[in-house]
Amino acid sequence: MRQPLIAGNWKMNGSKSSAEALLNGVVAGAGEISKAEIAVCVPFPYLYLGEQLLAGSAVRLGAQNLCTEGGGAFTGEVSGSMLADFGCRYVICGHSERREYYGETEASIAQKLVRATESGLIPILCVGETLQQREAGEMESVIAAQIDGIVERIGIDAFSGIEIAYEPVWAIGTGKTATPEQAQAVHAYIRGRIAASNGSIAATLRILYGGSMKPGNAVELLAQPDIDGGLIGGASLSADDFLAICLAG
Ligand code: G3P
Repeated sequence: MRQPLIAGNWKMNGSKSSAEALLNGVVAGAGEISKAEIAVCVPFPYLYLGEQLLAGSAVRLGAQNLCTEGGGAFTGEVSGSMLADFGCRYVICGHSERREYYGETEASIAQKLVRATESGLIPILCVGETLQQREAGEMESVIAAQIDGIVERIGIDAFSGIEIAYEPVWAIGTGKTATPEQAQAVHAYIRGRIAASNGSIAATLRILYGGSMKPGNAVELLAQPDIDGGLIGGASLSADDFLAICLAG
Protein backbone atom coordinates (compact mmCIF):
# COMPACT_ATOMS: atom_id res chain seq x y z
CA MET A 1 0.00 0.00 0.00
CA ARG A 2 2.82 2.47 0.83
CA GLN A 3 5.98 2.08 -1.28
CA PRO A 4 9.00 2.12 1.05
CA LEU A 5 11.32 5.12 0.73
CA ILE A 6 14.98 4.72 1.67
CA ALA A 7 16.65 8.13 1.79
CA GLY A 8 20.31 8.67 2.51
CA ASN A 9 21.25 11.69 4.59
CA TRP A 10 24.93 12.31 3.91
CA LYS A 11 25.01 15.15 6.44
CA MET A 12 28.18 17.30 6.08
CA ASN A 13 30.38 14.50 4.80
CA GLY A 14 32.46 13.81 1.70
CA SER A 15 34.47 15.56 -0.94
CA LYS A 16 33.73 16.21 -4.59
CA SER A 17 35.56 13.02 -5.56
CA SER A 18 33.99 10.84 -2.87
CA ALA A 19 30.54 12.25 -3.68
CA GLU A 20 31.05 11.37 -7.32
CA ALA A 21 32.13 7.83 -6.46
CA LEU A 22 29.24 7.34 -4.01
CA LEU A 23 26.64 8.63 -6.45
CA ASN A 24 28.01 6.39 -9.20
CA GLY A 25 28.03 3.43 -6.81
CA VAL A 26 24.40 3.94 -5.78
CA VAL A 27 23.28 4.38 -9.40
CA ALA A 28 25.18 1.27 -10.45
CA GLY A 29 23.34 -0.87 -7.89
CA ALA A 30 19.93 0.81 -8.00
CA GLY A 31 18.78 -1.35 -10.89
CA GLU A 32 18.67 -4.34 -8.52
CA ILE A 33 16.18 -2.56 -6.24
CA SER A 34 12.61 -3.27 -7.31
CA LYS A 35 10.45 -2.39 -4.30
CA ALA A 36 11.86 0.63 -2.49
CA GLU A 37 12.08 4.20 -3.75
CA ILE A 38 15.64 5.48 -3.32
CA ALA A 39 16.83 9.01 -2.59
CA VAL A 40 20.11 10.63 -1.61
CA CYS A 41 20.07 13.93 0.31
CA VAL A 42 23.42 15.54 -0.42
CA PRO A 43 25.18 18.69 0.84
CA PHE A 44 24.35 21.72 -1.29
CA PRO A 45 27.72 21.82 -3.16
CA TYR A 46 27.07 18.36 -4.58
CA LEU A 47 23.62 19.10 -6.00
CA TYR A 48 25.13 19.73 -9.43
CA LEU A 49 26.90 16.35 -9.32
CA GLY A 50 23.70 14.73 -8.16
CA GLU A 51 21.71 16.24 -11.00
CA GLN A 52 24.27 15.05 -13.54
CA LEU A 53 24.98 11.57 -12.18
CA LEU A 54 21.45 10.59 -11.14
CA ALA A 55 19.95 11.69 -14.48
CA GLY A 56 18.16 8.78 -16.13
CA SER A 57 18.36 6.63 -12.97
CA ALA A 58 15.60 5.78 -10.52
CA VAL A 59 17.58 7.41 -7.69
CA ARG A 60 16.01 10.66 -6.52
CA LEU A 61 17.99 13.71 -5.45
CA GLY A 62 17.36 15.42 -2.14
CA ALA A 63 18.73 18.17 0.10
CA GLN A 64 19.08 18.48 3.85
CA ASN A 65 17.67 21.94 4.50
CA LEU A 66 16.23 25.07 2.89
CA CYS A 67 15.53 28.68 3.79
CA THR A 68 12.34 29.78 5.51
CA GLU A 69 12.10 32.47 2.84
CA GLY A 70 11.52 32.11 -0.90
CA GLY A 71 14.40 34.34 -2.00
CA GLY A 72 16.14 37.69 -1.46
CA ALA A 73 18.60 39.22 1.01
CA PHE A 74 19.26 36.15 3.15
CA THR A 75 23.02 35.74 2.95
CA GLY A 76 24.23 32.16 2.96
CA GLU A 77 20.79 30.65 2.55
CA VAL A 78 19.44 28.34 -0.19
CA SER A 79 15.83 28.52 -1.38
CA GLY A 80 13.45 25.75 -2.28
CA SER A 81 13.30 26.96 -5.87
CA MET A 82 17.10 26.68 -6.11
CA LEU A 83 16.87 23.08 -4.93
CA ALA A 84 14.13 22.41 -7.48
CA ASP A 85 16.38 23.93 -10.17
CA PHE A 86 18.78 21.03 -9.56
CA GLY A 87 16.01 18.44 -9.85
CA CYS A 88 15.66 17.85 -6.11
CA ARG A 89 12.58 15.85 -5.18
CA TYR A 90 13.03 15.71 -1.39
CA VAL A 91 14.29 18.05 1.30
CA ILE A 92 14.81 17.19 4.96
CA CYS A 93 13.17 19.66 7.36
CA GLY A 94 13.66 19.93 11.10
CA HIS A 95 16.39 17.35 11.54
CA SER A 96 17.28 17.01 15.23
CA GLU A 97 20.78 18.30 14.51
CA ARG A 98 19.30 21.49 13.08
CA ARG A 99 16.93 21.80 16.03
CA GLU A 100 19.83 21.35 18.45
CA TYR A 101 22.63 23.30 16.77
CA TYR A 102 20.71 25.94 14.80
CA GLY A 103 17.72 26.56 17.01
CA GLU A 104 15.07 25.36 14.62
CA THR A 105 11.55 25.45 16.07
CA GLU A 106 8.09 24.32 14.99
CA ALA A 107 7.57 27.88 13.69
CA SER A 108 10.65 27.88 11.44
CA ILE A 109 10.15 24.26 10.41
CA ALA A 110 6.53 24.94 9.45
CA GLN A 111 7.69 27.82 7.28
CA LYS A 112 10.26 25.56 5.61
CA LEU A 113 7.60 22.94 4.91
CA VAL A 114 5.51 25.60 3.16
CA ARG A 115 8.52 26.81 1.13
CA ALA A 116 9.37 23.24 0.15
CA THR A 117 5.91 22.34 -1.11
CA GLU A 118 5.46 25.68 -2.91
CA SER A 119 8.73 24.88 -4.74
CA GLY A 120 7.39 21.48 -5.78
CA LEU A 121 9.58 19.58 -3.30
CA ILE A 122 8.50 16.84 -0.90
CA PRO A 123 9.64 17.67 2.64
CA ILE A 124 10.76 14.95 5.04
CA LEU A 125 9.72 16.24 8.48
CA CYS A 126 11.90 14.87 11.27
CA VAL A 127 10.53 14.26 14.76
CA GLY A 128 12.00 12.41 17.71
CA GLU A 129 12.74 12.44 21.41
CA THR A 130 16.00 12.56 23.38
CA LEU A 131 17.07 9.76 25.71
CA GLN A 132 16.31 11.99 28.71
CA GLN A 133 12.76 12.63 27.41
CA ARG A 134 12.21 8.92 26.76
CA GLU A 135 13.50 7.92 30.17
CA ALA A 136 11.23 10.54 31.73
CA GLY A 137 8.24 8.97 29.95
CA GLU A 138 7.79 12.07 27.79
CA MET A 139 8.21 10.42 24.36
CA GLU A 140 4.55 10.70 23.33
CA SER A 141 4.13 14.28 24.56
CA VAL A 142 7.31 15.38 22.78
CA ILE A 143 6.28 13.77 19.47
CA ALA A 144 2.73 15.12 19.86
CA ALA A 145 4.06 18.65 20.39
CA GLN A 146 6.35 18.38 17.36
CA ILE A 147 3.47 17.26 15.14
CA ASP A 148 0.77 19.49 16.65
CA GLY A 149 3.11 22.49 16.35
CA ILE A 150 3.14 21.95 12.59
CA VAL A 151 -0.57 21.08 12.18
CA GLU A 152 -1.55 24.24 14.10
CA ARG A 153 0.50 26.37 11.70
CA ILE A 154 -0.08 24.82 8.28
CA GLY A 155 -3.10 22.52 8.75
CA ILE A 156 -3.47 18.74 8.53
CA ASP A 157 -4.10 18.76 4.77
CA ALA A 158 -0.46 19.80 4.23
CA PHE A 159 0.55 16.33 5.45
CA SER A 160 -0.78 14.82 2.21
CA GLY A 161 2.44 16.05 0.60
CA ILE A 162 4.87 15.41 3.46
CA GLU A 163 6.92 12.40 4.55
CA ILE A 164 7.64 12.04 8.27
CA ALA A 165 10.86 10.57 9.70
CA TYR A 166 10.89 9.35 13.27
CA GLU A 167 14.46 9.74 14.49
CA PRO A 168 14.99 8.95 18.16
CA VAL A 169 17.79 11.36 18.96
CA TRP A 170 19.42 8.75 21.20
CA ALA A 171 19.78 6.39 18.21
CA ILE A 172 21.29 8.88 15.75
CA GLY A 173 24.92 8.12 15.04
CA THR A 174 25.21 6.06 18.22
CA GLY A 175 24.81 2.53 16.92
CA LYS A 176 22.03 2.19 19.54
CA THR A 177 19.15 1.43 17.20
CA ALA A 178 15.59 1.42 18.49
CA THR A 179 14.25 -2.13 18.60
CA PRO A 180 11.67 -2.93 15.91
CA GLU A 181 9.02 -2.97 18.65
CA GLN A 182 10.08 0.42 20.03
CA ALA A 183 10.13 1.97 16.57
CA GLN A 184 6.82 0.39 15.54
CA ALA A 185 5.15 1.71 18.69
CA VAL A 186 6.19 5.30 17.94
CA HIS A 187 5.34 5.01 14.24
CA ALA A 188 1.87 3.73 15.17
CA TYR A 189 1.52 6.60 17.63
CA ILE A 190 2.46 9.13 14.95
CA ARG A 191 0.04 7.61 12.44
CA GLY A 192 -2.70 7.60 15.08
CA ARG A 193 -2.03 11.26 15.89
CA ILE A 194 -2.44 12.18 12.22
CA ALA A 195 -5.46 9.87 11.83
CA ALA A 196 -7.23 11.73 14.64
CA SER A 197 -7.40 14.70 12.24
CA ASN A 198 -7.53 12.95 8.85
CA GLY A 199 -7.74 9.20 8.41
CA SER A 200 -7.05 9.07 4.69
CA ILE A 201 -3.89 11.15 5.00
CA ALA A 202 -2.73 8.94 7.86
CA ALA A 203 -3.27 5.83 5.75
CA THR A 204 -1.06 7.01 2.89
CA LEU A 205 1.49 8.98 4.92
CA ARG A 206 4.94 7.39 4.83
CA ILE A 207 6.75 7.32 8.16
CA LEU A 208 10.47 6.59 7.82
CA TYR A 209 12.69 5.38 10.64
CA GLY A 210 16.08 7.04 11.20
CA GLY A 211 18.65 6.21 13.84
CA SER A 212 21.42 3.70 13.18
CA MET A 213 19.53 1.70 10.58
CA LYS A 214 22.13 -0.66 9.10
CA PRO A 215 22.12 -3.65 6.73
CA GLY A 216 22.03 -5.93 9.78
CA ASN A 217 18.81 -4.51 11.29
CA ALA A 218 17.00 -3.09 8.26
CA VAL A 219 14.94 -6.17 7.40
CA GLU A 220 13.42 -6.44 10.88
CA LEU A 221 12.72 -2.72 11.13
CA LEU A 222 11.23 -2.47 7.64
CA ALA A 223 9.01 -5.49 8.30
CA GLN A 224 7.05 -3.46 10.85
CA PRO A 225 3.59 -2.43 9.61
CA ASP A 226 4.01 1.29 10.26
CA ILE A 227 7.65 1.65 9.20
CA ASP A 228 7.58 2.78 5.56
CA GLY A 229 11.29 3.20 4.95
CA GLY A 230 14.40 4.71 6.43
CA LEU A 231 16.36 7.93 6.71
CA ILE A 232 19.94 6.69 6.71
CA GLY A 233 22.94 8.59 7.98
CA GLY A 234 26.24 6.76 8.44
CA ALA A 235 25.30 3.73 6.35
CA SER A 236 24.42 5.97 3.39
CA LEU A 237 28.09 6.92 3.04
CA SER A 238 28.83 3.41 1.75
CA ALA A 239 27.14 2.51 -1.53
CA ASP A 240 27.16 -1.19 -0.61
CA ASP A 241 25.62 -0.65 2.84
CA PHE A 242 23.07 1.84 1.55
CA LEU A 243 22.02 -0.46 -1.31
CA ALA A 244 21.78 -3.39 1.12
CA ILE A 245 19.28 -1.37 3.16
CA CYS A 246 17.40 -0.39 -0.02
CA LEU A 247 17.20 -4.09 -0.92
CA ALA A 248 15.66 -4.80 2.49
CA GLY A 249 13.02 -2.12 1.82
O1 G3P B 1 18.85 11.65 9.14
C1 G3P B 1 19.30 10.35 9.39
C2 G3P B 1 20.28 10.32 10.50
O2 G3P B 1 19.98 11.22 11.50
C3 G3P B 1 20.50 8.93 11.06
O3 G3P B 1 21.87 8.81 11.26
O4 G3P B 1 24.01 7.64 11.30
O5 G3P B 1 22.17 7.00 12.91
O6 G3P B 1 21.96 6.44 10.47
P1 G3P B 1 22.54 7.39 11.50
